[in-house]
Amino acid sequence: MVSRMAEIDDPQERREDALTARIAATMRRKLAKDYPPADTRRDAHPKHTGLLEGVFTIDPTLPADLRVGLFAEAKSYKAWVRTSSASDKPQSDTVRDVRGLAVKLLDVPGEKIPESDEPNAQDFLLLSHPSMPLGTVRLFHDAIVYSARYSPLVFAAKMILTGRSRVLKELDAARIRPASPLEIRYWSTTPYRFGADRVVKYSLLPTPGEASPLPAELPEDYLTRAMTQRLASEGVSFDFAVQFRKDGMPIHDAAPRWDETVSPFVTVATLTIPAQDFRTEQRDRLAEELRFSPAHARVEHRPIGPVNRARMRVYRENSQFRTHRRGIG
Ligand code: HEM
Repeated sequence: MVSRMAEIDDPQERREDALTARIAATMRRKLAKDYPPADTRRDAHPKHTGLLEGVFTIDPTLPADLRVGLFAEAKSYKAWVRTSSASDKPQSDTVRDVRGLAVKLLDVPGEKIPESDEPNAQDFLLLSHPSMPLGTVRLFHDAIVYSARYSPLVFAAKMILTGRSRVLKELDAARIRPASPLEIRYWSTTPYRFGADRVVKYSLLPTPGEASPLPAELPEDYLTRAMTQRLASEGVSFDFAVQFRKDGMPIHDAAPRWDETVSPFVTVATLTIPAQDFRTEQRDRLAEELRFSPAHARVEHRPIGPVNRARMRVYRENSQFRTHRRGIG
């Protein structure tokens, strides 16, 4: 089993460890500057638009080859679902942004990877865009470090001068203003193992229904309001699907989208979000306290590729920094 695990080609990016350390330290310095200790937020996705209760149910009819790791047993897990906006500064929902959705499954049995610091959790972190334009640790590093040290314009200038304006165009295209976080699709953008010798990306697809129109008047918290209104009377659900990697689909760069016509997503579970009132002080507090990370994973679902390796370290160090400053960790 171990030798088969090693078959997946996933070399380190050049200077991966040093770049990762610099990303984490830059983000911490910024947090220390931007927030009073007791109100320290996340450095990315600081604004949650909701923390919702959910249920994640493994499809009981899965064929044998999909019954791997978490998906081996037809069970249901309680879940926390945090919807967010990606900007490093909390801002009005009306500003176009990349939207995030993070799922934490509770009481998940089975061995977790050694990088996990939550022995009973399996997390899935997804974005509202099918790929990550900053697909390498170097690009993430440049975006974060140049923006913090000088300004985002300096990063933009570097991209243009080095012939990579495509990155800027795609970052811009990824910023959206949806009618509701519950009516859009999400992608992991980065790859994960699916057992010993396969690799997948994840996606959450909202169950088709009537799409809400974008209201003409948009209050600053319109995304939270849209979810409040919907969940006051009815629940929603998403298909959770995996896309198997085929030859030529890169692991080392999260920017190229894996072609869905070559490898379509296959549904393996359902995420149900029942009707609920989530606008409470207690939920808001919990949304700040919870720590989501790709490292919270069963061994069969290990995050792979340079960006995921960098994330495992940055999320761990920086969420500890955040919770410690808030006096809860
Ligand atoms: C090297 C690249 C990346 C870095 C340095 C980074 C950094 C971070 C940090 C510091 C946080 C806050 C963690 C905390 O304090 O709890 C965060 C949250 C998040 N990141 Fe990333 N990120 C990276 C790439 C990605 C990618 C590729 C995705 C694609 C799914 C992603 C999705 C998210 C989401 C959804 C959250 C919010 C999680 C929550 O609700 O708590 N990030 N990121």
